[in-house]
Amino acid sequence: MKHLLVTGGAGFIGSNFVHYWLNNHPQDRVVNLDALTYAGNLENLKDVEDDPNYRFVHGSICDGELVGRLFEEEQIDTVVNFAAESHVDRSILGPEEFIRTNVHGTFTLLEAARKHWGGDADGCRFLHVSTDEVYGSLGPDDPAFTESTPFAPNSPYSASKASSDHLVRAWFHTYGLPVLTTNCSNNYGPWQFPEKLIPLVILNALEDKPLPIYGDGLNIRDWLHVEDHCRGIDAVIQGGTPGETYNIGGCNEWANIDIVKLVCSRLDELRPGARPKAELITYVKDRLGHDRRYAIDAGKMQRELGWQPRYTFETGIEQTIHWYLDNEEWWSRIRDGAYRDYYRTQYGGA
Ligand code: NAD
Ligand code: DAU
Repeated sequence: MKHLLVTGGAGFIGSNFVHYWLNNHPQDRVVNLDALTYAGNLENLKDVEDDPNYRFVHGSICDGELVGRLFEEEQIDTVVNFAAESHVDRSILGPEEFIRTNVHGTFTLLEAARKHWGGDADGCRFLHVSTDEVYGSLGPDDPAFTESTPFAPNSPYSASKASSDHLVRAWFHTYGLPVLTTNCSNNYGPWQFPEKLIPLVILNALEDKPLPIYGDGLNIRDWLHVEDHCRGIDAVIQGGTPGETYNIGGCNEWANIDIVKLVCSRLDELRPGARPKAELITYVKDRLGHDRRYAIDAGKMQRELGWQPRYTFETGIEQTIHWYLDNEEWWSRIRDGAYRDYYRTQYGGA
């Protein structure tokens, strides 16, 4: 039986992971530490809140005293660190919180694990969830990122994640902490906050609002269904080698404009309106420092841990569109309130 500390478990990937873990490892204990920033939402976890193996704790990974207490109380042997400021555009508007949570928060967790596990870390694992953005930007013909691609982060967000990855690496080499790092490509799926491209486009299209495309729309991302990411993290916890990093990705590169057109045409079939949704596409000012292309080589995950995605993009995007259509109550609450202020700052207008 494992005792997990999942940080950021009320966010998009974290809440999918909490569901995934309780379903697939029902004997394990899951403690979810989340600061409930704008991105954290306990409604994502309504159906597990009474599970006796699950506990929610409201607090920050930067609070060393609280984190230390949780290690003691819950005898934590496995950390899965999702907690982060995760949105590139917000990091451009205000980078400070990204440094605080992503860098100092990860440091605080590493120190708590080191103190609590001491010289007896047998069977313990500290899994740090990171991103492909630490590797920077690819040209059209460059090979995909591997685990040995040098770091070249370009945004405050990716620089803060790269910093945290370096800390994790150092705590292995210096202190022998049994760490693992995963660097994953763009996720999509249920419970994704509608500041990110796919849910933003689905919801704006349903509400007949402009679909903002940065620059020429030809930036490329490698998309992976969030459940496949969760299975990948599980595989790394169970079989990964401490000190190693693992790239997780979908082998599924799409230009932004093509994804938006795909979502539009599917919504035209499912929710036909007065005019085709693609007419809402609006080219807007490019993101500052916008990385052109990301692509992940997930060969190590496949070779060493037997992992590969189960969703095709077709099945994943279909499930995701239906999820947003079926969960209007969830997203309409988010789209009120503070979200409106962010939307106005980022895109102007209402
Ligand atoms: P998210 O923004 O949806 O969720 C982040 C969660 O962390 C929220 O619940 C928030 O309340 C919580 N949080 C923020 N600051 C905290 C703090 N100081 N203490 C405790 N909790 C705090 O993010 P996400 O998209 O689910 O991403 C999760 C992790 O995965 C991040 O580390 C991100 O860098 C990484 N990642 C994301 C993607 C992606 O496509 N979304 C891809 C690769 C890696
Ligand atoms: O690659 C992994 C990363 O994927 C994660 O580390 C980040 O946490 C996650 O937010 C995501 O970063 P991106 O910046 O790639 O995701 P986002 O959904 O913000 O944007 C995807 C692409 O779409 C990107 O090229 C910018 C573009 N875009 C985005 C928005 C929000 C637009 O053209 N218009 C938009 O309104």
